[in-house]
Amino acid sequence: MNNRIAVVPGSFDPPTLGHLDVIRRAAALYDELHVLVVHNPGKEAMLPIAQRLSLLEQSIGEEGVEGNVVVASWSVGLLVDYAQDVDAGVLVKGIRSQIDVAYETPMAIVNRHLADIETVFLLPDPAHALVSSSLVRQVAALGGDVSPYVPGAVARFLDPGTGAR
Ligand code: PNS
Repeated sequence: MNNRIAVVPGSFDPPTLGHLDVIRRAAALYDELHVLVVHNPGKEAMLPIAQRLSLLEQSIGEEGVEGNVVVASWSVGLLVDYAQDVDAGVLVKGIRSQIDVAYETPMAIVNRHLADIETVFLLPDPAHALVSSSLVRQVAALGGDVSPYVPGAVARFLDPGTGAR
């Protein structure tokens, strides 16, 4: 496996500014970055996977992230199966707090046992520390303004009336 190729997996339901911050940082560190929309059976989804892919592609374009980013989805099998398919040696996760460390650590250890793949934790800008997709889903469902928390493409999709950003 190639340690210059990394995967940033997540539900991205929807993508947030925190996600884009981690994607931008990881794209600067690795030669090739796969942003992977993974179906998480533990979470009830708001958006279909195809919509999340489209919003990620638009957001990555709008935010001017380098041209070494591939957006893909994975709904059958293990995350490490995708990583092995694309020869990626690294998984990248954004860490906002100790709660994220506690959530991510067991997955990182299991993924290392499964496929000898390393997980790298990146720290996003603290400005995004309180942003989560679940909070954005809740605010959007109740008619609130999500534009401070999400890329422009996502804000326009969730609330076409705002013309945000
Ligand atoms: O954005 P999320 O919901 O916190 O992302 C979690 C995700 C999708 C990355 C995680 O659920 C995952 O890795 N799922 C893939 C299934 C898998 O490989 N499980 C075994 C090792 S953790």
